Amino acid sequence: MKKILITGAVGQIGSELATALKKRYGKENVVASDIRMPSDFNPRNDGPFEFLDCLDPHHITRAMQMYNFDTIYHLAAILSAVGEAKPNLAWQVNMYGLYNMLEAARQYHCAVFVPSSIGAFGKSTPKDGTPQDTVQRPDTMYGVTKVAGELLCDYYHKRFGLDTRGVRFPGLISYQTEPGGGTTDYAVEIFSEALKHKKYTCYLNADTRMDMMYMPDAIKGMIDLMEADPDGLIHRNAFNLTAMNFTPAEIADEIKKHIPEFEIEYNVDPVRQAIADSWPNYLDDSAARNEWGWKPTFDMEMMTKDLLEKLSQKIEKPQKPKSR
Ligand code: NAD
Ligand code: SER
Repeated sequence: MKKILITGAVGQIGSELATALKKRYGKENVVASDIRMPSDFNPRNDGPFEFLDCLDPHHITRAMQMYNFDTIYHLAAILSAVGEAKPNLAWQVNMYGLYNMLEAARQYHCAVFVPSSIGAFGKSTPKDGTPQDTVQRPDTMYGVTKVAGELLCDYYHKRFGLDTRGVRFPGLISYQTEPGGGTTDYAVEIFSEALKHKKYTCYLNADTRMDMMYMPDAIKGMIDLMEADPDGLIHRNAFNLTAMNFTPAEIADEIKKHIPEFEIEYNVDPVRQAIADSWPNYLDDSAARNEWGWKPTFDMEMMTKDLLEKLSQKIEKPQKPKSR
């Protein structure tokens, strides 16, 4: 039976990953942890939750000794836009936090999933069909920590035989938990603003193209990779992953098919625009497809329809605290 620790479990990915893993492996076998409590946490229904600051080795050791973990999903991190505002914090959390969790995994014999990002690329990377193995000279602190993190995970695998695995996620789009301060957050905000106000002011230019993915595909990808036969993996960490790519103007047009009155306007934030301009237009994810069978379900059309339906139900009928 698996025993899983999720760090950063209250965030955009962790909150939905916790639900999926609890469904798959049993509530008691998945320990969610973060430096903040989930707003709807119900200790009777939700399974174990630990306050765990990944910068504090005492917190980590205590959790490792309390539970006999065999797998860690390490999601605690500072995202790109917050990372540019607070580069010191991004370096601390993304580097020392990762190092501490890799060390814990080494000492307690755990497999580790660590997400990297399209932010691990920079202006000198080929922008269209970005290859799996290519130039990585990012311009942001977030990107610097993501490249270093990819290398550190490879190092722990080669040097200590640790079962490290990971992907480079594009912008993730979801409706259950607010995003944590990334450059791709517009693609989440636009849906709720379209439903609530029929209007959205976008902080990126109309023609800024980036890779994106709907959260159900991201969750499935993480679990599939961690369950993949290691003999099939040539790469282990930082698999390029994508499901769709679009610009703000294109996603606005797609939303208009469902909400004809919807209007988008633009008020460009130079910091986030510069970050987005330094990232790829779209990735080549053939290594993930070939090595462990990655195949997303949702394209832009399917995602938009599904998300608008689910989000309008959520807005009309705010959910009661649910078990995770
Ligand atoms: P998020 O910001 O929504 O959540 C991160 C969580 O980490 C937060 O709940 C925060 O409280 C927690 N945290 C911060 N500092 C911590 C610390 N010292 N100890 C423990 N927890 C701490 O982020 P997310 O979107 O869920 O991203 C998770 C991971 O996936 C990150 O590594 C991120 O770079 C990566 N990723 C996310 C996206 C995306 O679009 N969401 C895309 C690419 C990669
Ligand atoms: N969504 C993330 C960000 O914008 C990509 O890593 O920071």
